[in-house]
Amino acid sequence: MCGILAYSGKKSIKKILLSGLEKLSYRGYDSAGIGVLTQEKTIKIYKYAGHVQNLTKNLEKITIESPVGIGHTRWATHGEANDINAHPHLSHSGHLAIAHNGIVENYNTLKKKLISKGYTFQSNTDTEVLINLIDYIQNYQQCALKEALRFALKHVVGAYALVLLDKNNPHQLIATKKGSPLVIGIQGKEYFIASDVTPIIAHTNEVIFLKDDEIAYINHGKLQITNAKAVEKTPFIEKLDIHLEAIDKGHFPHFMLKEIFEQPQSLQNCILGRLNMLQKKLTLGGIQDHLPSLKEANRIIIIACGTSYYAGLVGAYFLEDICRIPVVVEYASEFRYRNPIIKSNDVILAISQSGETADTLAAIQLAKKHHAIILGICNVVGSSLARTTHAGIFTHAGPEIGVASTKAFTAQLMSLAMLALKLAHEKKTIAENVFQHYLLELYKIPTKIDLLLQNISPAIQLLAQKFKNSRHFIYLGRGYHFPIAMEGALKLKEIAYIHAEGYPAAEMKHGPIALIDQDMPVVCIATKDHCYDKIVANIEEIKARKGQIIAIVTEKDTHITSLTKDIISVPDTPAALMPMITIVPLQLLAYYTAIARNCNVDQPRNLAKSVTVE
Ligand code: F6R
Repeated sequence: MCGILAYSGKKSIKKILLSGLEKLSYRGYDSAGIGVLTQEKTIKIYKYAGHVQNLTKNLEKITIESPVGIGHTRWATHGEANDINAHPHLSHSGHLAIAHNGIVENYNTLKKKLISKGYTFQSNTDTEVLINLIDYIQNYQQCALKEALRFALKHVVGAYALVLLDKNNPHQLIATKKGSPLVIGIQGKEYFIASDVTPIIAHTNEVIFLKDDEIAYINHGKLQITNAKAVEKTPFIEKLDIHLEAIDKGHFPHFMLKEIFEQPQSLQNCILGRLNMLQKKLTLGGIQDHLPSLKEANRIIIIACGTSYYAGLVGAYFLEDICRIPVVVEYASEFRYRNPIIKSNDVILAISQSGETADTLAAIQLAKKHHAIILGICNVVGSSLARTTHAGIFTHAGPEIGVASTKAFTAQLMSLAMLALKLAHEKKTIAENVFQHYLLELYKIPTKIDLLLQNISPAIQLLAQKFKNSRHFIYLGRGYHFPIAMEGALKLKEIAYIHAEGYPAAEMKHGPIALIDQDMPVVCIATKDHCYDKIVANIEEIKARKGQIIAIVTEKDTHITSLTKDIISVPDTPAALMPMITIVPLQLLAYYTAIARNCNVDQPRNLAKSVTVE
């Protein structure tokens, strides 16, 4: 989604904004621009559709000297992706400029009112409405910009994060947010305001996460933060524990490949300090205080979107199996609009990599109104989800830059497995020897994935070449592998732009089997578990209809090997933990197929890394 970067300081504004916008580009965008002040005391906007490189090229021969500046990468919502709709936007008077993330839901009503007051508009965006509303209120009330902003936002319905530039105050930046993240980096008298920390960490690790309705006011190198009631606050400065290498591709051609190969380490980080093999103990410090409520929970309701939703489905199987608590998994976007039944002894578990997904955050707010306990599984410390839930588990996968989620997904699976085991142990619904066996198996997962990654790439590259021109794929799995079939299909759709569907294998007979012919690749996740014979029968049915079977099997499987040549073997592990392993070849299959089809793997078309609007 859109990215914001603003800077106040003595360094080269052009360099800082352009390199920062490059860093933000992983979020997904279709145009980019900057707004700066000129020697003639006017605001100058440079903005173009397309990549940040396009903006950089257009600015090559232009000298910019401005004490403050704002930059933006736009992911189109209102109005197509073109130069005019790109941000920043100037007010009608030319006095103010804005970089804005989010959606002004009532922009049409506001626009009509502003038109009746003589305002004209260049773009189709809600953002241009917002800057003109602020401009109008400032003129009407003859007040300071900070006050005008506060008044204007009272009329705005929606979520936003924004930064303002004022031509009459050339050393000033004003920023605020509601429901969309904004973080301020501090380096002495220099300030960086951004929608996430990626463009900041090259400069400083001291940051302030702005809260909803707070206004940050930077003037002549001084920062002041006021709350919704205009009362000044002492800012809480946090030290980030993220290193620059974490947002660098290193020797990998793409972030996605780097992140797939990081999984042994990210899973290791996820269990670090939690799984103690010497003491044979599992500790989840983040939820420790809520274990009594979890033990008594009537029901666990998991809410999430996309890949995180599939992680939730895997988690639900294991939680129900070993904790004997009913678990339902809901798309956050459906949950929030369907008047769900939430009782006081229900526990809500929200899962989100970014912690900024608008639907998931809104679903949490709804559950809060019912006084439910809300736990989170999240990768981003300091995110909105981390701050709004009562307690939770950080997945510690490290920053995930590739748009298609990989290492964050396996870390979510690991966190859910640990949660299920901890809860079952507390509830005594699992025998001690079984619990201990699982702990040992959890501990072995990173090493197993490491070995797998060392061996499978050549075979998967061949499969990608063989099937790169297929127009459709079917993915089948049973039990724990039904969600993995859907996640594997999602990865292929997202980055290789091939239509793919994931099904529970037994559902094939109820319709999708009509699609099977010699041109249909069918990926079958068929590892050795209690459903093995059933999925073998499904594979036979596909073979009988000449479908092209790609099978993910447990190593030393001899039976399925006789049914198809396209086999990927994975190390054996208990069924509930197997999804962490079987998803790895499916991530690589999507990656290498996308490469074979010349697709932009890290920034697939139309996608955004965190979906901060509905
Ligand atoms: C797919 C993907 C998305 C996200 C979804 C939720 O690869 O990444 O489907 O899983 O947008 O995002 P989070 O987990 O940040 O809430």
